[in-house]
Parts: sequence; C-alpha cells; structure tokens
Amino acid sequence: MTAWTIRKLLAWIAEYLTKNEVDAPRLSAEMLLSHVLGLKRIELYTQFDRVVEKDALDRLHDLVKRAGNHEPVAYLVGRKEFYSLEMEVTADCLIPRPETELLVQRAIEFLRTREGQQHVCDLCTGCGCIVIAIAKGCPDARLVATDLCDKALAVAARNVDKHGVADRIELLCGDLFDPLVPQLDVTQWDLIVCNPPYVSTAEYEALDKNVKDYEPQLALLAGEDGLDVYRRLCEQIDRFLKPDGALMLEIGYAQGPAVRDLLERTALFATITVEKDHQNHDRIVIARRA
Ligand SMILES: C[S@@+](CC[C@H](N)C(=O)[O-])C[C@H]1O[C@@H](n2cnc3c(N)ncnc32)[C@H](O)[C@@H]1O
Repeated sequence: MTAWTIRKLLAWIAEYLTKNEVDAPRLSAEMLLSHVLGLKRIELYTQFDRVVEKDALDRLHDLVKRAGNHEPVAYLVGRKEFYSLEMEVTADCLIPRPETELLVQRAIEFLRTREGQQHVCDLCTGCGCIVIAIAKGCPDARLVATDLCDKALAVAARNVDKHGVADRIELLCGDLFDPLVPQLDVTQWDLIVCNPPYVSTAEYEALDKNVKDYEPQLALLAGEDGLDVYRRLCEQIDRFLKPDGALMLEIGYAQGPAVRDLLERTALFATITVEKDHQNHDRIVIARRA
C-alpha cells in the first residue's frame, strides 16, 4: 500500500486541481492539507516526509473533490487572510479580495491625518474585514458597521472578537444607513467606507463558477447596471457624512466614470478621485467633502 506522505499528497492534490482548472493549485493544495492536519503552511515543509493517517486522508479527499468542483478553498478551510489578518469566512459572506486592501490603506492614511477621535462607518461589512483592518490600524477610532445579512454579521462578530476590537466596533443589521438612525450619540461620520455589491445583471451571468455558484448573490448583484447601491448611497450621504469628511467606495473595474458622475451630481464633494488597482482597473473612489 502507498504511504501517503505530505510531499506526495501536495504533488497529487496540485496536479488534480491543475487538471480541474482551479486557480493557484499548489497554494490551494497547501491550504487544504494544512487545514486537515492542523498545521501552518510552513510546517508542511518541515514535516515533508510525515505519513498522513487514513482518517485525515478521508477528510482531505472530500475537500479536494469539492475544490476540484470549484468550491472556493477559503470556504472549505473557513478562513482567508486580509490585510495580514486572518478572517473567518462562511458561505454567507463574500470572500475578502486583495484589491479591497487598497481601500483600507487609503482609509487608514486619511484617518491618521486628522486630529481627535475619529468616527468611521463601514456599510456592507460582510465578514467585517474592512472595519476590523481599519480598527487595528487606527487604535483611537470608533467604528460602526452594517450589513443586510444577519448571518454575515454573525461571522463579523466572531472576527471582531478574535481580533480584540469588540470594544470599538458596533455591528448593526439593516439596509445601508437605516440601522444608524437611532444612534443619537454620533450623527455624522468622519469617514464612510463601503464595498457594496456592484455586479450588473449581464456580468453576473458571466461570472466564474467558483464565484457565481458559491458566493452570496446578495453580496454581488446590484441591479441591471450594477450601480443600484451607489445611487442609494448618494441619496443619503449628505445626512451622514461630516462637512470635512470622506467617502471611500470600492467599485467595479470600469465603473469609475459612472460613480464619479453620481457623486458629482450630489454637489457635495470638493474632490473626487478614482484610483486604479495593480491590474490597472478602476478600483476605488475617494470623495472629500468640501
Ligand atoms: C461585496 S460584499 C463586501 C463584503 C466586505 N465588506 C468585503 O469587502 O469583503 C457586499 C456586502 O453587502 C451586503 N449588502 C448587500 N446589500 C446591502 C444593503 N442594501 N445594505 C447593507 N448591506 C448590504 C451583503 O450582505 C454583503 O455582505
């Protein structure tokens, strides 16, 4: 009988995932195997010739099959790294994307230029990755985050606890700004960030299987042209953003001009900047109030 060592398993899983056209096959193999064995990825290499027991092989087999069927590895292992922080994820929340880290970086830079305690609002928080990363980068900020999905918020709550920021982040369930209305101690925010759903109906149909079949539709789809949430945000922003505050939005790869136009029509902002990501796609919009 073949002795399945870590070395052999990694090679076999990576080959299987490659054949099934799964992205980043070797990294995915490492994540699945380290998850099943309860090891860090680096420990796979320090225990390369360790023979893996049958019960672990059985669990691994099931996960590898699901990964081969394009179920996201982050859901299979229940976590994803974001801004160097480990976030729990479940199928109720979007898997945090590396592109979103740019929004966090700009948010932290903005907050660090300001005096006094800063109040931050993260709309559409999902697993809480943005609000938690900002809280870790700005220890004096007080933050609130909302999401329409209570199951995603339950994950966010566990992430908030895990990262030790529960005393500064309040999580509220509801539609965009709606849950903020009763909060009378803070009526306007210094910074409002949001990575909303922004996929159009046509783009949704063309999404890769690993996204369309597994990630929540509520986290992705935003009407016929993908701009529904930005439109609704623009209708309400005047009431919630401080006079010298900033609004920072993640946007789809070609939505820069349309989102800029929506923001310009509010006539609230002194500057509106569209920033591109590493792939030269429109990615974030920063609007500074006059
Ligand atoms: C694109 S995901 C972003 C999740 C997370 N902020 C991130 O960057 O990975 C959008 C999130 O918005 C939530 N959502 C969708 N419509 C919403 C609405 N009208 N009000 C509040 N949250 C909403 C979804 O449940 C989902 O968690």
